Amino acid sequence: MTDETLSNLLHENRRFAPPPELAAHANVTADAYAEAAADPEGFWERAAERLTWERRWDRVLDWDQPPFAKWFLGGTLNAAYNCVDRHVENGLGDRVALHWVGEPADDTRDLTYADLKDEVSRAANTLLALGVGDGDRVAIYLPMIPEAVVAMLACARIGAIHTVVFGGFSAEALASRIEDCEAKLVITADGGYRRGAPSSLKPAVDDAVEIAARAGHEVPHVLVVRRTGQDVAWHERDVWWHETVDTASATHTPQAFDAEHPLFVMYTSGTTGRPKGILHTTGGYLTQASWTHWAVFDLKADTDVYWCSADIGWITGHSYIVYGPLANGVTQVMYEGTPDFPERGRWWQIIAEKKVSIFYTAPTAIRSFMKQGREIPDRSDLSSIRLLGSVGEPINPEAYVWYRDVIGGGKVPVVDTWWQTETGAILISPLPGVTSGKPGSAMTALPGIGADVVDDAGTPVPNGSGGYLVLTRPWPSMLRTIWGDDERYVDTYWSRFKEQGYYFAGDGAKKDEDGDIWLLGRVDDVMNVSGHRLSTTEIESALVSHPKVAEAAVVGASDETTGQAVVAYVILREEAGDGGPEVVQELSAHVRTQIGPIAKPRQIMIVPELPKTRSGKIMRRLLRDVAEQRAVGDVTTLADSAIMELIAAGKAQST
Ligand code: WT7
Repeated sequence: MTDETLSNLLHENRRFAPPPELAAHANVTADAYAEAAADPEGFWERAAERLTWERRWDRVLDWDQPPFAKWFLGGTLNAAYNCVDRHVENGLGDRVALHWVGEPADDTRDLTYADLKDEVSRAANTLLALGVGDGDRVAIYLPMIPEAVVAMLACARIGAIHTVVFGGFSAEALASRIEDCEAKLVITADGGYRRGAPSSLKPAVDDAVEIAARAGHEVPHVLVVRRTGQDVAWHERDVWWHETVDTASATHTPQAFDAEHPLFVMYTSGTTGRPKGILHTTGGYLTQASWTHWAVFDLKADTDVYWCSADIGWITGHSYIVYGPLANGVTQVMYEGTPDFPERGRWWQIIAEKKVSIFYTAPTAIRSFMKQGREIPDRSDLSSIRLLGSVGEPINPEAYVWYRDVIGGGKVPVVDTWWQTETGAILISPLPGVTSGKPGSAMTALPGIGADVVDDAGTPVPNGSGGYLVLTRPWPSMLRTIWGDDERYVDTYWSRFKEQGYYFAGDGAKKDEDGDIWLLGRVDDVMNVSGHRLSTTEIESALVSHPKVAEAAVVGASDETTGQAVVAYVILREEAGDGGPEVVQELSAHVRTQIGPIAKPRQIMIVPELPKTRSGKIMRRLLRDVAEQRAVGDVTTLADSAIMELIAAGKAQST
């Protein structure tokens, strides 16, 4: 974000007070802040009582060996039981858990909590029969179909650790995750629907399993859902979901696990080429996913219809489609397709049809709808909406106000929720019945959470100043470590402000005159494209692994719709010639196969040199200037200051 944008933001002075009707019946009132501040552990202890425990904890927090936290010590529970069975036992078995809407418009399915209990039990029995047990890892690579939710909960039910890999990742990326966590089973589908046509998934799994085998890790079984009916290659290790899960017993008694039993690993991009396996455990994670979903969305489980448009392959899908909403027993919409197929008003039709009351999406989607014009949403009756949420990247005030006016009828609260894969659940957000929202600000830390903005030395900055966002206290849904790499966990998050004992989030932030927090984007080599986190280094490594590439530098350039876009600068090897559209295409395709379509550069520029400091560090700041078509900034620290002219004048080839 440029300084100019920042100062515009901070002159934003519109305020939106909570609607009085909502405030009068809000789940959480202003008192919660003071109560939690006086006794954060007591506060989270009460939040944990939302769940059903088999054995109550002896101690709320063990922070004796920071930064390794343990929450709800001695407590035992089953996450799937909490998300499914207990609602059935409480007489809510007939309540719809999922209004599933497929991409082919007439393809829909409603699953009640009782249906979900049967399905999850069958899948749990199948996993056990396939030799998967307590502590084993299961990779899930599925489209947005109910089986994805069932598969996750089946793992949780038997104490297996799931790692869901987004379907937009390549075979290579899937293989590296399977290898890293040594998955014993992969759950996938023949394919899924994308813009009206079946697209395949199984071939990527076949390749990934082969790649993992060559690296020495054998995957004994692949469980395959038949979704599209397309032809698939079949191996001895493969089993069909409909031949196993559908015929398995629907009786399965869940066993309680320790509060600190691992629940899942979610891979995310860091500042190096290797993705990090973020480990979340059971009791604290489920407590905070459930509490925040109830508090931030002011959830009334008996009457609300909730919809989060994220994919289950990201943390948002884990916490705010699966664990939070299901632990809270609400009815939700789950949608398989893209926002604009078969037509651009598809989302709004679904909201009108299912009477969605709470809707949670990303700024990038809002901005693309803004571009299409309000006529499209205006065709649908959106009067059921009573609350809107935003997540994944800073929301610019224009998008916030458009969202509130056009989708929210100018009367509903918008909650801008800041969090990360690592935090597991929302940490900074307005409370809809308490906070007067400022468009563009995530406002303040939730009750029970310690957040601050500090300078280089770790000293909190005064109001009106910027710095680094830190978390000053452990929280229940915090990551416990990076899978298999405690050292990297300590280095990445806890070494920057070691003395203060603060968690370093990697985001820049500013406190305004009232002390409210404005997020300003990453301060490290991590990009945010359409709310998806991508590592510059990871894409650079992918490019450099191509035989024609000598060197590569990647930057995130600001993009009107996607927030940031990937722009790559590449030096070719001599034998590759001086490049041309075919080479650019080839490199773009290479990034696709190495990482996946989401990492595909918006632009690849073939350049003769890269700007480097005398110590050899690439100056990405200057490359960003070129990518954003700005005058190139200060070049005095460059080893060779003529390089920028060469680059700016060089061939820019778009992909
Ligand atoms: C990064 C985390 C949180 C689930 C989706 C992304 C950025 C997230 C906001 C927000 C400004 C935000 C941050 C953060 N981010 N939410 N409301 N305002 N920035 O999860 O892939 O782990 O990415 O997304 O930069 O560090 P993730």
